[in-house]
Amino acid sequence: MSLEERKMRLIEALIDEGILKSEHVIEAMKKVPREEFVLEAYRESAYLDEPLPIGYGQTISAPHMVALMTELLQPKRGDKVLEIGTGSGYQAAVLAEIVKPEGHVWSVERIAELAEFAKNNLRKTGYDKYVTVIVGDGSKGYEEQAPYDKIIVTAAAPTIPEPLLTQLKPGGRLLIPVGDLYMQILKIVDKDFEGRIKVRDNVPCVFVPLIGEYGFRSERFP
Ligand SMILES: C[S@@+](CC[C@H](N)C(=O)[O-])C[C@H]1O[C@@H](n2cnc3c(N)ncnc32)[C@H](O)[C@@H]1O
Repeated sequence: MSLEERKMRLIEALIDEGILKSEHVIEAMKKVPREEFVLEAYRESAYLDEPLPIGYGQTISAPHMVALMTELLQPKRGDKVLEIGTGSGYQAAVLAEIVKPEGHVWSVERIAELAEFAKNNLRKTGYDKYVTVIVGDGSKGYEEQAPYDKIIVTAAAPTIPEPLLTQLKPGGRLLIPVGDLYMQILKIVDKDFEGRIKVRDNVPCVFVPLIGEYGFRSERFP
């Protein structure tokens, strides 16, 4: 079966499972080629519904998690989005496909080599126009472009970092896995137009840790 056929099968399965629902998220996942965001050795595995290693102990998230997070974030054309944890750049490309051409994604990655990997993946797929990758500690957000309509954290945090709440627009939404190093709950955080914060729990999940000033202090010692 070709990669294109495997991609369509996976997307149909995610629709059947009730994870993929919105037309624009389905279209974005059809358009962005996940095989261009994995290491060459995993190209044939690009449409298995699994996280895959991208080096430096990190992973590209499983397609069902990207689908779920994109659905829950509710991005729309023209949105300013901040992503923390660029990894391969795949989630950023899916978001860019939805918010472009007026919108933009700023994505912060702590590991410089992975930021380069992501930039290269985004360049070869043409999403570099709509995604800016920044090397740094994303637990502090990215103040330079704040405030954001949407913020998505694709690494596990011990608590919700205060700077991310500050950098979220009134009416905006933040998605973040919060818990310990072994298991987290995906939290949906909404800021209303009076600036009040409402936090709701979604599904249990497992992400690699957010390491930084407002995250875990190291991979082994929280
Ligand atoms: C599960 S991976 C992200 C997957 C990515 N969204 C994708 O589509 O491939 C988590 C990433 O968060 C990064 N990370 C961890 N702590 C961070 C921090 N404080 N700031 C920015 N990135 C961080 C890791 O280096 C890793 O690349």
